[in-house]
Amino acid sequence: MEITCGELTDDKYEGKEVSINGWCRYIRIHKDKAFIDLADRYGITQIIFQGRLLDEASQLGREFVIRVEGKVRRRDKKDINPDMPTGKFEILASKLKVINKSKVPPFEVIDEKIAFLPDEDLRFKYRYLDLRRRNALWKIEFRDKVVKSIRKFFWDNDFLELETPLLIKDTYDASGSRTFIVPSRIHKGEFYGLPQSPQIYKQLSMISGLDKYFQIAKVFRDEDPREDRQPEFTQLDVETSFKDETYVQTLIEKMVERVFSEVLHKKIKTPFQHIDYKDAIRLYGNDKPDLRFDNKIVDLTEELAKSDYNIIKNSIKSGGKAIGIKFEAQFGTDRSKLDKNFMTEMVEKAKTFGLGGLTWLFIKDRKLRSEPEKIAEALSSQNENIIKKVNGAEGDIIIIGTDSSESLLLSAMSKLRRIIGIKIGKFKEDYSFLWVDRFPVFEEDEITKKLVPMHNPFVMPTDDSLKLIDSKPAEMIGRRYDLVLNGVEVGGGSIRIHDHELQRKILKIMGLDDKEIDESLGFLIEALSYGAPIHGGIALGLDRFVATLAGEDDIREFILFPKNRKFESFIDGSPKPVSEKRLKEDFNLRIDRT
Ligand code: AMO
Repeated sequence: MEITCGELTDDKYEGKEVSINGWCRYIRIHKDKAFIDLADRYGITQIIFQGRLLDEASQLGREFVIRVEGKVRRRDKKDINPDMPTGKFEILASKLKVINKSKVPPFEVIDEKIAFLPDEDLRFKYRYLDLRRRNALWKIEFRDKVVKSIRKFFWDNDFLELETPLLIKDTYDASGSRTFIVPSRIHKGEFYGLPQSPQIYKQLSMISGLDKYFQIAKVFRDEDPREDRQPEFTQLDVETSFKDETYVQTLIEKMVERVFSEVLHKKIKTPFQHIDYKDAIRLYGNDKPDLRFDNKIVDLTEELAKSDYNIIKNSIKSGGKAIGIKFEAQFGTDRSKLDKNFMTEMVEKAKTFGLGGLTWLFIKDRKLRSEPEKIAEALSSQNENIIKKVNGAEGDIIIIGTDSSESLLLSAMSKLRRIIGIKIGKFKEDYSFLWVDRFPVFEEDEITKKLVPMHNPFVMPTDDSLKLIDSKPAEMIGRRYDLVLNGVEVGGGSIRIHDHELQRKILKIMGLDDKEIDESLGFLIEALSYGAPIHGGIALGLDRFVATLAGEDDIREFILFPKNRKFESFIDGSPKPVSEKRLKEDFNLRIDRT
């Protein structure tokens, strides 16, 4: 009988002749026996070699691939390993075949619980070795379970699983990022673009009458690297016809319920909470608040302006603002998680977010205190006002940030809010889902001052907003919604523009003329003119969704072969130059490398 390394958990195998394949993880020679922990995706099984096989087994090295035949036997009571699912049994080998040797691995294939992990570059360079570790593997297996559950949900609900093309036109799609382009050999000097999302093609599918679509789609964005970004990532992409935002949101809630029950074996509360974009910014400083905890931002500009804290006063005088957030910290007690060291770290962190200044205070004997004392002294005239405004109590910590740019201040404070909230760790619930609704259609480009879509140019404005299209387009609100989980934007979608004239008008507000519109999106506008249904949908960032569900931040751990923080492949070192000869001959391209 052929078994895996995780199978020997049951008495039924005792005494059976089995064969098994795997990698030699640990090798111990003890007296006249060799003990090998043989590992594969399913677990670890102990193999014993003795007698004529001892010599051969002694030659085995770490990560050699072997095939063993032998008899399953129960371990002696004293040798039972309760930490191992197969720990009651072992195989006494009668035959050994070395399938392949291994060079000495650059790091031990071992979980971080047992040993330190090698540095990240080395670990991901040898990701195929890394993935032999259980702690790396479970994340990939977890992703697989989530994907299977999602697929089953959409199949059961009569959605078609469609594949949209990957070689498409380099055209306007998601805002803020660029399209990767691919040269064509047949059409020299011409290029395809790789999709930033299946957006346009899923809209075309709706025009085709394929009214319920989903896809687990690879997408590509040539944007600046950030922690939670990858240049290629996966979206769960969904689109439906003749439905509204409530339908799309309820559908996703049902899908999430299913994933929770099938994968996490938990119940999740539905419907999810909702907040309007402008309230999210006003109350929490960003459009993806982590609502596992309440701590809201409080405007302290007035109080600080009246204080004797000159640095902040001056910043306010020149147009800056001051924002505070209070945390229940029990500062000064043994239970305090926010001690002086941590708060000093936060001040440093604030600098990396570009924040002009961050001050922290604590409340003791109903007074604001600080280390050094002189900050609280400078604020003493506003002691009561500040404590009252933040609704502070004994032991609470208040952070106060200032900056001349309000958007930077809000963004930095909301990031600090999340870091400190997580550090305190007093969550109302483990998973906090939130719909953020009613985003503006446009925002102003900081450099060109032109109106650009806040998300993409296909978002249908609300009925009320449509009245503003000629007079105040910047104030239009879109039927756009984001899904936030524990402070991470895990998805976004909208009801789309299905009227070709309106679509053209929106593109014109962005400063494109008819010719430019026809050149870039003429094919979509034409399609919309052949009876496009009302339609809308959503895309979940699958990598972020899966990582956040698993309670982790680093999406790369949930990607089979991710890119590094500079968006280079750990494995093959791409991107790489292509030979001049090939560029010239195949694509008629020349690169000026000066
Ligand atoms: P959006 O641009 O909001 O919407 O993308 C959807 C979700 O994809 C995830 N995401 C990323 N994940 C990893 N790396 C990246 N570089 C990255 N960029 C985005 C986020 C995000 O919420 N076509 C629309 C969807 C629609 O309207 O239906 C779109 O792509 O979790």
